[in-house]
Amino acid sequence: MKLAGKTVLLGVCGGIAAFKAAALCSKLAQAGADVRVIMTASAARFVAPLTFQTLSRHPVYTDMFDETYAGGVSHIDLADRADLVVIAPATANMIGKMAHGIADDMLSTTLLAVTAPILLVPAMNVHMYGHPAVQANIQLLKSRGVAVIEPGAGQLACGYVGKGRMAEPEQLFALIAGMLASDLPLAGKKVLVTAGGTRERIDPVRYIMNDSSGKMGYALAEAARDMGAQVTLVSGPTALNDPANMNVIRVESAVQMLEAVLRHFADADIVVKNAAVADYRVESPARQKIKKSGDTITLKLVKNPDILQTIGSKKTRQFIVGFAAETENVAQYAMEKLTKKNCDLLVANNVAEKGAGFAGDTNRVQIFDRNGLVAESGLIAKKAAAELIMREVARRVNERTGLGDGGGTN
Ligand code: PMT
Repeated sequence: MKLAGKTVLLGVCGGIAAFKAAALCSKLAQAGADVRVIMTASAARFVAPLTFQTLSRHPVYTDMFDETYAGGVSHIDLADRADLVVIAPATANMIGKMAHGIADDMLSTTLLAVTAPILLVPAMNVHMYGHPAVQANIQLLKSRGVAVIEPGAGQLACGYVGKGRMAEPEQLFALIAGMLASDLPLAGKKVLVTAGGTRERIDPVRYIMNDSSGKMGYALAEAARDMGAQVTLVSGPTALNDPANMNVIRVESAVQMLEAVLRHFADADIVVKNAAVADYRVESPARQKIKKSGDTITLKLVKNPDILQTIGSKKTRQFIVGFAAETENVAQYAMEKLTKKNCDLLVANNVAEKGAGFAGDTNRVQIFDRNGLVAESGLIAKKAAAELIMREVARRVNERTGLGDGGGTN
């Protein structure tokens, strides 16, 4: 019961994405949160209040004047008890009302009385979302500290394709769980994570790449975020969506990844270098598509910069975690890389082992420091491996800064 003892006030506005709010309500309640739901009159035309009542196990509020609670005033009581307020879906109308302090229904009135953090999850037509009035209202709310989860792009219920889809319930749940967690060993820390493989161009339509899916790196970035860190994720090309609530920088090649890492390195407290960077790139990628000619073709490859080694040689206060993808002599090669690249920790995965390494959802990791092996996981989900690694990092970083332990691995 991860969220036991936490109260989430869920405000549901009138949009087709209201059905996703029901899934979010269910996840929050299953995790032990006390979920209180206010629906606007239009929301109640999309999904019945009974759905939310059944999922949250509490009465749903739709009408300001339907005061069945004699012990106080409902909108003040709901505002006071919330640890977090989530408005999902947030319509252009509700965003406008929030921005300008209008209180003309149960939800907008309650929002004026809220002192807890507010998470706004917009969903609407692509042109409505892009309208200068809506964007100005969102900027105003952001400047007042409201967290806004950008809608995703794709097919919209109105028939358009574009930006406007409400974030998925799973993504929102992870974010909310992170925001409500009282255990935040990386609070105040800036964490830079690299993920995925790099793509080295041969010509405009062909490239050299490896099997990295980005799953391990994204899980590390999310684990750091959920422990309270401010995260920058530098990602090679992947099929994964941007994780919420972090700065995501998409790059293609090793050289671009180096540039992005160096731009954020000075500011970082912790760097986790999970990306599978190509060791070589094509010396002179062709400007035009290479035509088929002889029976063989020769590509001249030149060495890429070693990003980890570069930052290892520049580090001042940064805590650096390297990775090693090995197929043999794992411990020996891991220790050699840790020393050569000046890492504080090195995480090795034996990518020849079934269920470990590239692409799948599981991994088996070994964590080394300068003295040797410090922790080892069995075959576990990449998310669990990421949590194990980030907890070990947090413990060591906090020990260094005299903040005591942030939770250990054993
Ligand atoms: O993305 P997934 O499908 O989830 O797979 C995850 C993973 C197996 C790719 C990941 O867990 C992993 O092992 N990443 C490191 C892969 C790798 O490049 O290992 P390496 O042993 O070749 O490199 C050692 C370290 O140097 C790594 O931290 C790497 O980021 C870094 N490096 C390597 C070469 C280079 N030019 N620059 C670098 O920074």
